[in-house]
Amino acid sequence: MQAVILVGGKATRLLPLTNNTPKAIVPVLNRPLLEHVIRHLAGHRIEDIILAQGHLAQLIEGYLGNGSRFGVSLSYVVEDTPLGTAGALKNAAGYLDDTFLMLNGDVFTDLDITAMLEFHRQQKAMATIALTPVDDPTSYGLVETTPENRVARFLEKPGWNEVTTNMINAGTYVLEKAVLAQIPLRTKVSIEREVFPRLLTGHQPVYAFLSSAYWIDIGTPEKYLQLHRDLLSGKCRNCLLAPTEEVTIGENSHIHPSARIRGPVIIGADCTIGENVALNGPLAIGDGAIIREDSIIEDSVIWQNSRLGARVSLKSSILADNCHLNEGSSAENVVLGDNVTIAGGCKLEPGSRIGAGTTVSASP
Ligand code: GDD
Ligand code: MG
Repeated sequence: MQAVILVGGKATRLLPLTNNTPKAIVPVLNRPLLEHVIRHLAGHRIEDIILAQGHLAQLIEGYLGNGSRFGVSLSYVVEDTPLGTAGALKNAAGYLDDTFLMLNGDVFTDLDITAMLEFHRQQKAMATIALTPVDDPTSYGLVETTPENRVARFLEKPGWNEVTTNMINAGTYVLEKAVLAQIPLRTKVSIEREVFPRLLTGHQPVYAFLSSAYWIDIGTPEKYLQLHRDLLSGKCRNCLLAPTEEVTIGENSHIHPSARIRGPVIIGADCTIGENVALNGPLAIGDGAIIREDSIIEDSVIWQNSRLGARVSLKSSILADNCHLNEGSSAENVVLGDNVTIAGGCKLEPGSRIGAGTTVSASP
């Protein structure tokens, strides 16, 4: 079975984390998001995977290679200009030979894909769309269904006055190859706004696969942090790479005996945690981090090679690669891009989003 994963979006809502890193490979528990997605697919025997890329394409290929490390075969298709969700699929049509799976590359889920494929076959559907309940459907594609689980209406990003259900498009589809014939070549087309509504107008069998699996779209820093809280606290029951221990410490990391670690915490390889440091989970710390004495870190995600000086306080925040928080600085609810430096003693404004490469000098 084949799968196409869409990974070509600009990911502006996730800035500054996506200044230099495509959304599809932002680290989740210290591994690229796509590695989780691909291992989940491989677990359901989907081993021939095509990545439909645009923005920062080389970085994705550079990390994932031909996929053999994950037991799958990966092919890459790149768009010169973004073709939209259906245009990107059409661009990958040459690789597809039968019924296939299509996925939004920014979704983290433990959806039972095997059961979904079986449901699609039983219904003899042209398209099957996985649905998940959410609190606020206005950020997603709302999907109305009949009692027989046929899709009755598809409404992308509805206004609150249009909301009739809390069930939305979860971004996983099973599609027959005939769907591709309905998408023009080299044209910007949306599967949600154009192709699905057209299939419905044409009375094609489009079915909904309702699921209560773990599900989140990591499209914003808030959701990205929420995903870490959920995974570390065991909310995703069938996620293959979720930690099994309260505290996981990578190879070659040195934790000072006086440091206090309250899980759930995952620490990567080659890290140094100094004297009297307090690490309060949920917390994910990437490889090569150095956290000096008396610092307090809580409810945060730190990517690789960050350096936190003595007496730093960090809470509910995300730091991308190579950030330096100098002695005595503090931050709560901030998001820093790669290579951000915060001067000693500086207290960042809660809610700050600081772009890659910025130096913030001490507050006056
Ligand atoms: N190759 C390619 N080309 N990929 C694209 C393009 C494009 O032009 N545009 C978007 N993508 C990819 C994104 O990288 C992402 O993985 C996926 O398509 C969905 O795009 P988003 O921009 O994240 O869309 P969304 O989250 O607002 O809405 C979509 O996902 C929701 C579920 O998370 C829609 O499919 C909604 O209907 C759905 O509910
Ligand atoms: Mg999205």
